[in-house]
Amino acid sequence: MSRAADHPVEALFVDRWSPRSFTGEPVPEAVLKSAFEAARWAPSALNAQPWRFLVTRPGDAWWETYLGFLMPRNRLWAAQASALVLILSSRFAERRGEIVENTSHSFDAGAAWANFAHQALLLGWHTHGIGGFDKNAARVRLAIPDDFAIEAIIALGRKGDLDRLDPEFHGAEVPNGRRPLADTVFAGSLNEPAFSNGKDAA
Ligand SMILES: Cc1cc2nc3c(=O)[nH]c(=O)nc-3n(C[C@H](O)[C@H](O)[C@H](O)COP(=O)(O)O)c2cc1C
Repeated sequence: MSRAADHPVEALFVDRWSPRSFTGEPVPEAVLKSAFEAARWAPSALNAQPWRFLVTRPGDAWWETYLGFLMPRNRLWAAQASALVLILSSRFAERRGEIVENTSHSFDAGAAWANFAHQALLLGWHTHGIGGFDKNAARVRLAIPDDFAIEAIIALGRKGDLDRLDPEFHGAEVPNGRRPLADTVFAGSLNEPAFSNGKDAA
């Protein structure tokens, strides 16, 4: 793993990354249940839990349909995954007995997906988010009502060897980096970094 944190964090945050080479081995239901359970405990506005997960595994009735939603470049590698999970979020929530617009449905679904990814990693499975798919086709084919936003598809699998991956992706099959906190965290307004640049002393 080529990543190093600038400040102390639990290893799982830097160890999670998004490979494209997967073994394609079957994922045990227990792994999926644990990852979805972690997602279930994510925080959300009004505790509305706007996320919904639609899951398919190779060989089931939906697998080929889901692969068909993917942009061809994504299909090349995602076809080797052990599960694909379509994440939806409900645009509406209940507040004091009234149905109201939930302005943070996507934000909250993002928190749930992060929990999912980290729990999967702790169990030895990797995830790879996919935004490159035909959302309209998914909405029509899966009869998803407009009340739900279509957020992303997540590929889940065990990391495979490079020889399982189309050569065009070989160069990118390494964990990438992040910009420093100084370019990310600001003091009150966007004008001034909150912290000076640099890593903690080892
Ligand atoms: C919502 C979302 C959509 C993404 N869409 C794609 C995609 O369509 N194709 C792809 O190869 N990677 C996709 N990615 C992966 C990102 O490029 C990757 O997460 C990012 O470069 C950070 O790398 P890491 O996840 O390895 O830390 C997506 C990630 C997220 C969270």
